[in-house]
Amino acid sequence: MTMEQSLPLPRKPEIPDDAELSGADDRAWRDLLARLSRQSVTKHFDAYEDVDWDDPSHAVDPGDPRFELIELDPLGGTDWYRSQPQPLRARIGLHRFATFMKVGVQFENILKRGLLTFAESLPNESPEFRYVYHEIAEETQHSMMFQEFVNRTGLRVGGMPPALLWFARRIPNLARRFPELFFVFVLGGEEPIDQMQRRALRERQWRHPLAERISQIHVIEEARHMSFARAYLLRHVPKLGFFSKSLLALRSPFILGNMATLMLQPSAEFARRYQIPKDVLEQAYRRSPVFAGLRRDSLAKTRRLCHELGLIQPPYSWIWRAFRIQEA
Ligand SMILES: [Fe+2]
Ligand SMILES: [Fe+2]
Repeated sequence: MTMEQSLPLPRKPEIPDDAELSGADDRAWRDLLARLSRQSVTKHFDAYEDVDWDDPSHAVDPGDPRFELIELDPLGGTDWYRSQPQPLRARIGLHRFATFMKVGVQFENILKRGLLTFAESLPNESPEFRYVYHEIAEETQHSMMFQEFVNRTGLRVGGMPPALLWFARRIPNLARRFPELFFVFVLGGEEPIDQMQRRALRERQWRHPLAERISQIHVIEEARHMSFARAYLLRHVPKLGFFSKSLLALRSPFILGNMATLMLQPSAEFARRYQIPKDVLEQAYRRSPVFAGLRRDSLAKTRRLCHELGLIQPPYSWIWRAFRIQEA
């Protein structure tokens, strides 16, 4: 029996919206953490119990047409992609999805190390402790689920470019030294993935049931993670001093811009492997107004939050424009 069959699921989403969180006092903060922790007990998923990996309709075959690129990926709309033979189109689509999963595994690895570092600094009786450990457990299940999928493709799936991975490995320390910046990084990784998965689910773009199942599980649990990160920022950023707040305003758009690119655009290595011509990449991503909108929208909630926290204003607003993640 799966988790969903055995446990009653809440009728309406219990995740509070941002408005409910602003100005949260200590009582509201404790209530939120208790509520999120409770939901982590009643509504969580196991990578091996709740995904039927061995169902024949879930088989992962690189030639399966159900893996062709979904409409959300602008590469799929190019003449170049449409002119490729069908098995290659499927392979490219599967490889893109698996790369998304692999980057997810790497991002969640850094995230979990950061959360462990954050938890290490918490005193006894801290209300954050239990919730943070729930989140670490959930990210562990996600990473097992993503890696299992990657392994089943039989493809050589790379993840983040090495330079970015080197940089990202320094992030867990931020969770102790500058947790506000760490939670901006968390949202920068979580929101673009979540937005893409949510939209693909809503528009029924996943044609392969395994891709759909993985996305369903992920968006349910990510809602809690993003609620926590947003609430943490709303509670702590207003208390920062001038210097720390300026540093946060300066660094946030760098992190968010790079994360959006990482999550939504194929890497140079991927483009080389499939010999995607430069002008096709330009047309699909760099010069496409549709993609520019998609990229901006992928950070909409985080940008709204940064705006509310006073992080998007001169002299820092130009950085948001330079990374093309400003409000349209
Ligand atoms: Fe996750
Ligand atoms: Fe998460």
